[in-house]
Amino acid sequence: MLPDAQIEQVATLLGRAKTITVLTGAGVSKESGVPTFRDALEGLWARFDPTQLATRAAFKADPKLVWDFYEYRREIMRPARPNPGHLALAALEQRFPSLTIITQNVDDLHEQAGSQRIIRLHGRIEANKCAADCQGSPTPVDVAQLTWEKSAGPPACPHCGSPVRPDVVWFGEMLPAEALARAADVLHQTDLMLVVGTSGLVSPAADMPAVARRAGATIVEINPDETPISAIAHHCLRGPSGEVLPRLVEAL
Ligand code: OAD
Ligand code: ZN
Repeated sequence: MLPDAQIEQVATLLGRAKTITVLTGAGVSKESGVPTFRDALEGLWARFDPTQLATRAAFKADPKLVWDFYEYRREIMRPARPNPGHLALAALEQRFPSLTIITQNVDDLHEQAGSQRIIRLHGRIEANKCAADCQGSPTPVDVAQLTWEKSAGPPACPHCGSPVRPDVVWFGEMLPAEALARAADVLHQTDLMLVVGTSGLVSPAADMPAVARRAGATIVEINPDETPISAIAHHCLRGPSGEVLPRLVEAL
């Protein structure tokens, strides 16, 4: 259990901050029952490496395998509800209306918790698009409107016939330019950044704490484990975000 003194020290910094940014990763959703990206896969998927499935090359080689993998992840995420960590961040935004969440998560638990200012870096797992971006990037496809043989893999784009894919960013792909531009603005204005539940392994999100720090921000990491970001954090609160974030908000 983290000592109260550590929580109070960071709560004091939060209380003084004018602009707060929160960078979140899969760890913030862990206590909602959503496995993190790098958690070992279970059951039928145990022999796969998620970093090998979340690529354009994997989809091209075997669209059904990658589609089925995302369907499996969607099924895990659908019943998930915000945990006390998501709710604490939404409460913090009530108090600091300029607070912005930059998230790598593809679930919608920050929205469900009531957070308003959210920059999504990696897309949304429930959304789909044409793999060929035939009507511009992205070309959204509502699969609820389509009928297709589900055991055969992804449906075909109604415009061009290319396979439909989840609207998430895969390894090696560019992040949405608009989200990146908004994030860059925020990073240069923030005076305190909470880095919550991210392994800090995937750029450019992994570089954002360092960017904010160079621009003058105080960096606070909330993660039960040490990460590459720990070295540049001014404070590391070692614990699950579902416990640490509510304590921080209470101590304000
Ligand atoms: P990871 O799965 O890489 O890391 C999850 C982090 O959460 C780890 O550092 C854990 O220590 C931490 N963690 C675990 N339980 C926690 C808890 N209860 N509270 C707080 N932290 C906890 O997830 P990300 O860093 O989000 O991209 O991964 C980054 C990106 O890698 C993902 O967005 C995904 C993948 O590429 C896409 O899908 C596009
Ligand atoms: Zn198309």
